[in-house]
Amino acid sequence: MTQDQLKQAVAQAAVDYIVPQLTKQSIIGVGTGSTANFFIDLLAHHKMDFDGAVASSEASAERLKGHGIQVYDLNWVGELEYYVDGADETNGRLELIKGGGAALTREKIVAAVARTFICIADESKLVERLGEFPLPVEVIPMARSYVARELVKLGGDPVYREGVVTDNGNVILDVYNLEIGHAQDLEENINNIVGVVTNGLFAARPADVLLLGTPEGVKTLA
Ligand code: 5RP
Repeated sequence: MTQDQLKQAVAQAAVDYIVPQLTKQSIIGVGTGSTANFFIDLLAHHKMDFDGAVASSEASAERLKGHGIQVYDLNWVGELEYYVDGADETNGRLELIKGGGAALTREKIVAAVARTFICIADESKLVERLGEFPLPVEVIPMARSYVARELVKLGGDPVYREGVVTDNGNVILDVYNLEIGHAQDLEENINNIVGVVTNGLFAARPADVLLLGTPEGVKTLA
């Protein structure tokens, strides 16, 4: 099976997981990236079964609207039963690295609101130890060099993602070679650097369910 076929399989598994629970009032949190795109396209077949979605990026909002799915501002939404999104890496505790698509801050906000965060990923994303994928950090532009120096003090090698501006008007530093021993501590330490908006470690709020695409079928970890 190709990686895209595995992504499609986990996207379908997420649809199968949530659709039976939806009501006409349900609003679904929807993530960003190629796996999330498969999810959006498959979810669209069920658009009559729920009210609408909150998107973690402008790109996903456009894709949802393209299918005729109502997109809500999170500020107008009280309850979000599910958030479905991909990841760049996950460990067995369902702690994640996200932000390869530069949408990490909005992803973290929507994940914080959702009661159940369902991560959908092909098996290449499952790792023993987080950190082979460089950790994305969203930074206020004027703080870029300062934050980079602070990240070096934490043992990382930050690289400015040239030409990328986030949906929030900020920049991304991708941090290589970080020793991610205790992910939650590192997430907090990086977020405490002045000028950091957020970082792509999802450890304080990990996923609740991981649907992992393998050639033997979709595995569920919870
Ligand atoms: C975007 C993300 C994505 O979930 C992550 O990059 C995975 O993307 P893909 O599904 O294309 O492999 O965090 O900011």
